[in-house]
Amino acid sequence: MTTTSKQDRVLIFDTTLRDGEQSPGATMSHNEKLEIAAMLDEMGVDIIEAGFPIASEGDFEAVSDIAKASKNSVICGLARANFKDIDRCWEAVKHAAQPRIHTFIGTSPLHRDITALSMDAMADQIHETVSHARNLTDNVQWSPMDAIRTEHDYLCRVVEIAIKAGATTINIPDTVGYTIPRESADIIRMLLERVPGADDVIFATHCHNDLGMATANALAAVEAGARQIECTINGLGERAGNTALEEVVMALKVRHDVMPYDTGIDTTKIMGISRRVSQVSGFPVQFNKAIVGKNAFAHESGIHQDGMLKNKETFEIMRPQDIGLSGTSLPLGKHSGRAALRAKLEDMGYPMADNQLKDVFVRFKDLADRKKEVFDDDLIALLRDAGAADQNERIKVKFLRVICGTEAPQSADLTLEVDGVDKQITCQGDGPVDATFKAIKEIFPTTARLQLYQVHAVTEGTDAQATVSVRLEEDGKIVTGQSSDTDTVVASAKAYVNAMNRLLVRREKSAPDSDVKTVKYTDTV
Ligand code: KIV
Ligand code: ZN
Repeated sequence: MTTTSKQDRVLIFDTTLRDGEQSPGATMSHNEKLEIAAMLDEMGVDIIEAGFPIASEGDFEAVSDIAKASKNSVICGLARANFKDIDRCWEAVKHAAQPRIHTFIGTSPLHRDITALSMDAMADQIHETVSHARNLTDNVQWSPMDAIRTEHDYLCRVVEIAIKAGATTINIPDTVGYTIPRESADIIRMLLERVPGADDVIFATHCHNDLGMATANALAAVEAGARQIECTINGLGERAGNTALEEVVMALKVRHDVMPYDTGIDTTKIMGISRRVSQVSGFPVQFNKAIVGKNAFAHESGIHQDGMLKNKETFEIMRPQDIGLSGTSLPLGKHSGRAALRAKLEDMGYPMADNQLKDVFVRFKDLADRKKEVFDDDLIALLRDAGAADQNERIKVKFLRVICGTEAPQSADLTLEVDGVDKQITCQGDGPVDATFKAIKEIFPTTARLQLYQVHAVTEGTDAQATVSVRLEEDGKIVTGQSSDTDTVVASAKAYVNAMNRLLVRREKSAPDSDVKTVKYTDTV
């Protein structure tokens, strides 16, 4: 049996709901915050910073409801260095089985200027406020904001005061994302060496990503002795964001040989929470983002695809399953070879005999020369042309013409083929996409709710292929449709219809998880 000593264990402190929510435009609703907190709790996050209770009534309510609902995680609230903030924070977190107050003050010269406090006056304030928090709970975290730009002697002095006043965790924030890994480590090492009582508390690292080094800085701090990493899902946060939870956790897992520290995170929950945070915050995950980006487990070139099919470790340092994906993506494009096409078709339920594959491969190469990425829909159309696929889509887009522009009303003239019968309608809407979706719903009424509509330009320029993702929800069943076209409205109509067809299949099978494969990659963006 392997045991993890205190020294080997790194606590994960998630601040998606506080620092992450501070990203301009990332506001989440009360219920969304509760949902994300439950997911964080379930995935094994040690401490959830649930909000800043004094900031608003909404923040207060969210923190207290999260505190009431928490199961395993410590629930923490943020408070400035004054009694009113700290009391309000305590009122919210006290409902948790394990509450924590996190109080902070800016200690660098720039921040001391703003608060007009001398070094001595600030030191006194730190002593009073941390003592006050400690009288409310024995779990108190203290942060010298902008620690990295604080004079070292003063930083040591105030950290010592906070420890003496009863802080149990000392967080060292790189508030403006200014540090580099070596310095991040040196500061933690210095504090551990110079500050009396440092061995009795946990040091935390809180890094912003302004220079793209947040994850590296956090890990360097851990190597120097920090035992709590503050981070957010998808790296959400002020400006360029924070250390991404998924990055530090996976780095510690994959490079355990050189960083032998454990976290309590169930990594298979990473993809699910990443998608959900992206949806509720409205912040898409960039395609090439480490771990959770759409392309993080995608291989297009023939050599890479062939290598992957023979031995996945050739081009992957972790398994997609480790973060909760069902498999690797081998997107098909002009660089793809026969092996990848065969594997993809088999995966889609179309195993090919050699001679059949030969014909389909020629057609595929021809299409791939014209299109940047060949999607499942394209392959089905191609198989159909080659007489190799069943026509199992109940609804098809036959004709679409829209009127759009500055003069309302915008309208869509649409013909759908439904179960082999053409149905035509003209609808008006608030823009061409709205008119088109209304027309689809008129022809084929459903109770499905549009959860997500996203457009991506796959290539650059005004002739770009637009890829549209549409997510529909009906009675808890979620399906995603996708389509590409140089005409965004046509791609939108086809993506919507694609989702509808999937929904119809789901209704027939009524198997709750049968669409997992589709959700897998299209869902992240
Ligand atoms: O970045 C920062 O300094 C913070 C503090 C409130 C810890 O978020
Ligand atoms: Zn921060």
